[in-house]
Order: sequence, then C-alpha cells, then structure tokens
Amino acid sequence: MSPVRGGVFADVVETQRIPTLVRLAPNLYALTYRLMKMVPARHILRRAAASGRLDRGTTVVETTSGTFGLALAMQCAIDGRDLVLVGDPVIDARLHRQLADLGAMVEIVHHRAAVGGYQATRLARLAEIQAELPNTFCPEQYANPDNPASYAMVAELLTDRLGQIDCLVGPVGSGGSMCGTTRYLRQSNPDLVSVGIDAHRSVLFGQPDGPRVLRGLGNSLRPGNLDHTQFDEVHWVTEADVFHATRRLHQAHALFMGPTSGASYLVGSWWAGAHPDALTVIVLPDEGYRYHDTVYDDAWLAGYGRETPPAPRTVRGPGEADRSWCRLAWRRRSLAEVTAGSHLIEASG
Ligand SMILES: Cc1ncc(COP(=O)(O)O)c(C=O)c1O
Repeated sequence: MSPVRGGVFADVVETQRIPTLVRLAPNLYALTYRLMKMVPARHILRRAAASGRLDRGTTVVETTSGTFGLALAMQCAIDGRDLVLVGDPVIDARLHRQLADLGAMVEIVHHRAAVGGYQATRLARLAEIQAELPNTFCPEQYANPDNPASYAMVAELLTDRLGQIDCLVGPVGSGGSMCGTTRYLRQSNPDLVSVGIDAHRSVLFGQPDGPRVLRGLGNSLRPGNLDHTQFDEVHWVTEADVFHATRRLHQAHALFMGPTSGASYLVGSWWAGAHPDALTVIVLPDEGYRYHDTVYDDAWLAGYGRETPPAPRTVRGPGEADRSWCRLAWRRRSLAEVTAGSHLIEASG
C-alpha cells in the first residue's frame, strides 16, 4: 500500500485546486486554476470514501491521457492510495515521469482499435485490470455526477468574491466544470449566460467525429456529464486561433496557461467586448508548462499562420460550423432539439 504523504504535501496540492481571480478588464475576470481537475478528483474520492466504495486497500483505476490523471495522482498520494492509470501515447514522456514520481503506476496502450481508437483499447485494458485486482474503484469523470457536483465550491467562491456574474465562458471536455459551475451559479442568478467552447470535429455539440489537434476540450464520445440544456451559446474554435490567444493571454497579462485557457480568453474577450455592461468570467483550467516546446515556441507557432479573426461567424446549426471560429445561439436546448431545429432551418433555407 502507498504511504500517506505529510501535511505540507497536502497544503501544496491544495494550492493547485483553489482558483484565483484575476481582473483582466473592468468587466472581465479570469478564474485561474493551476490544475482544475483537482476539484473533481478530490471530491469524487472523498465521496467514494464516505459512502464505503473506497477503503484503505482499494486501488484507484482510471483511463486518462491528461490532467485528470495528474490530479488523481496527487490526491491518491495525499491519501496513501494505490493508483493505476491506463493511458495512450498522448501521455508524453514528461507527464509520464511526473505521474510516476507521484507514485502512480502508468500503463500505456499502443494499439489503436479499428472502432473507438485508443479510447476503446484503454477501456478494454482497464476492464482487465479491474478483473485482475481484488478491490478497485474507478472515478469515471465522464459519467460520475460527483464531477459536476464538485464545482459547487467554485460557484460559491465566485459569488462571494464578485457578487452577481452575468456570463461564464469555458471549455467543455467531460462537461463537468462548465455544467457544474453554471448550475450552481444559477441558483442565485437564473439569468447567467453560459458559453461553452468546443473543437471542430468533436461530437459534443453535434458535429461528426474527426481528427482534432486540441486536447482537453472536445471529445469523440458524448459524456453523461454533459448537460446540453445548461448552455446559452456554443463556440467552435480552431487550433490556430486558440494557440495564438494562449500566447496573447501570457503576453498581455502574464498568465502562463495551457491552450484551453487560450480558448476561454479568445471567446471571453470577444463576449465581454460585445457586452460592456455585463460581468464576464472566463475559466482557465491549467498552466502552460506542458506546452513550452509547442505553443510557447515561436517557430512551432509560425506553422499555425498569423493572428486571429476579431469575431466569430454566427451559424444556425452545428452542421454549418466549418473550419473557422463559429458561434451558435444554443438557447439551453437539448442536442436533439438543436439538431432537429437546424434540419428545419437547412430545409427551409
Ligand atoms: C486542460 C483542460 N481544460 C479543460 C478541460 C475540460 O474540462 P471538463 O472536463 O470539466 O469539461 C479539460 C478536461 O480534461 C482539461 O484537461
């Protein structure tokens, strides 16, 4: 069994979970996390322990290629829990070493299944590990309702610090952060405008699946934790726009963040400019260290062309959102309502 780490370790990890608020403009704030996934990781494990699904001898197992694994590794190290992560080659060597340093066992699958790709191979290997070990717990960030529920704390922090917020803008991957934070903020302000950001060729908001460069936002599967009816607006962003915006965020505000933060900055700055009387908050989920050799390298970035367009193109349905930055008035509808509606528009248009 893994050793329980000391109080200082836990204190340092806690600084990664609690976001800070940075004022970027009179009506624009950045909700800045060092590692946003600490919020659901800690809450999910605590709830599982409280309900008896997770005891001292239980091994935590999860499939992840990114920041949720890192957050689980830190949380499991605090609690002295064994952790097995199943990833794919997207986990680069640096992240792999970081996870191992924190005591996680990392298995990388190399076979890409004909149907479902790496994700399908990862899930199959996860099932094998669960069958091999006597006692396991899988946090399942995509379906576990404790993921969105964990953001009640964030909504409370925002309301305490800023009072009433008019608009929340952030990237969508599992849906947990945006759906959870939106839901709790609406308890005090039902009119809050929630703006979700997706990538082209992601199935989250109704586009057909396809190859994507952006990580963290967008998905090839539609997670149970994505509640489409929370969103007033959806934007599809391009990798070039996002990478350039990530650099502008750093250059203009000294916020050294990852590309999903750049996506928030791109969309949120535009939204705040278009609504000068509204108070807008953008979600910045992680720091930029993993992107030193890419987004923060001028030669690499030059491969993505020049600076970005000033505004998104408004579309009438997900099918119209092409390779440029696009915006759809989602109006808190279900996915079925939106796709049915856009067929009607396309048929009549
Ligand atoms: C860096 C980063 N940003 C944003 C997201 C999206 O957050 P959520 O899964 O809560 O929708 C993720 C999800 O993995 C992420 O890793």
